[in-house]
Amino acid sequence: MMRGELLYEGKAKKVYLSDEPDLYLIEYKDDATAFDGVKKDHLEGKGILNNTLAAVFFDLLEKKGVATHYVRMVSEREMLVKALTIIPVELIVRNIAAGSISKRLGIPEGTVLKRTVLEFCLKNDALHDPLINHYHIYAMGLASEEEMALLESAALEVNAVLTPFLKERGITLVDFKLEFGRHRGRILLGDEISADTCRFWDSFSGEKLDKDRFRRDLGGVVEAYREVLRRVK
Ligand code: TMP
Ligand code: ASP
Repeated sequence: MMRGELLYEGKAKKVYLSDEPDLYLIEYKDDATAFDGVKKDHLEGKGILNNTLAAVFFDLLEKKGVATHYVRMVSEREMLVKALTIIPVELIVRNIAAGSISKRLGIPEGTVLKRTVLEFCLKNDALHDPLINHYHIYAMGLASEEEMALLESAALEVNAVLTPFLKERGITLVDFKLEFGRHRGRILLGDEISADTCRFWDSFSGEKLDKDRFRRDLGGVVEAYREVLRRVK
């Protein structure tokens, strides 16, 4: 698989053209950022762990009937994906209160939510990914009502697949962020599902096994990601 022109460089990944039309190559970097890139570090091996974790999750979701952009792993830090035009709406799925919902609504971290919460954020770093609702989405023409119905049911389906899968492996899926995109008239789950984009808590000790270790200066970031991979692989 030849790597073509660099199309886009994000904070944690690079996207390249591949030698197959319609397919992109994603390279997972070892860079970690938080708070819109204000906090930065280089974490040796993070890219390999997240690429492999994302491959495990995308593979599982495909088997369960969720349409994703994932094609296959190409190397330890690269995956081949279907080319997407990303819909600039991030979907956050929450089972347990943590992070921004705890701050915003005063719900103590660790509170099990009475039902799953879906949130939408505008994908725009300069504006700090602000929370938006359906009215904003339709007013800005970001997605149609039909597309939003599909995105929401796919996000809940991802939760329904990943929650028990992780539970069986001693990991509580607290929350996660998803992005979707359009590919040849279809909507596919895109971006990544990894320890950068999910909150994973050890089901017994409550220990954080995700990017909060970096955001909150807890140390042992790569070790925690490696532990998640060891349990799911
Ligand atoms: P939050 O509590 O900070 O809003 O984060 C909710 C979830 O979304 C959490 O699993 C981390 C993930 N997330 C991202 O993937 N990218 C981001 O830029 C942010 C802020 C959160
Ligand atoms: N990905 C975001 C950033 O780089 C924030 C985060 O994940 O907390 O700033």
